[in-house]
Amino acid sequence: MVKVGIIGAMELEVSSLKGQLKDPVVTKKAGMEFNAGRIGGIDVVVVRCGIGKVNASLCAQILCDLFDVTHIINTGVAGSLNNDLNIGDILISKDAVHHDVDVTIFNYKIGEVPQLGVREFPADAHLIEAAEKCISQTQPDLNFRVGRVASGDQFISSSEVKNRIITNFEADCAEMEGASIAQCAYLNGVPFVIIRAISDKADGSAEEDYPTFEKAAARHCAKLVADMLKEI
Ligand code: ADE
Repeated sequence: MVKVGIIGAMELEVSSLKGQLKDPVVTKKAGMEFNAGRIGGIDVVVVRCGIGKVNASLCAQILCDLFDVTHIINTGVAGSLNNDLNIGDILISKDAVHHDVDVTIFNYKIGEVPQLGVREFPADAHLIEAAEKCISQTQPDLNFRVGRVASGDQFISSSEVKNRIITNFEADCAEMEGASIAQCAYLNGVPFVIIRAISDKADGSAEEDYPTFEKAAARHCAKLVADMLKEI
């Protein structure tokens, strides 16, 4: 039976999904509220993990251990690292990488966590397809691409850092949780996908409008995730 764990870092990334839950049951663990229930007849657990990679990993592992989720979807906003991705557009993860891991001194690739044997954690092909299908059916005017998510415990807001991440990782967006959720899903053998709406250009531009873009982008993304559930 399918049970989908849905993780957002911030309340605005999960509030509309929580509002759609039928027969919600809340379990508190590690300072997080795991909201189990059904959306569109599918069993889900919706949770706000908090910001950053440690919170995200903890949350994903709890979803695996306590809730036996069969799939994990990470929804939220991200900064664009690709000129073809503008504010409001959607990035569906092909894979995810840690942009703030550097053990190159011991001959690991930049971003590679030692001894895992993988640098980019691949997202699940079926979940990617479900997201693509959903956009073309329910929001055909939405611009999206399937690409690489780069994650780190940093809000990217300068061209210098942005360009370094692009050069090192050929990534399409930057955020602060996806790769740790991906690593956890990979280690537990659970299929995952990251769906992110672009809220900024990761270069400090249009900073004053960020809260507005962030709110709209997060809502956008949550709608897509809810629509996607019936395709899983
Ligand atoms: N989330 C949204 N925009 C971001 C950025 N520029 N860097 C990191 N996380 C983000």
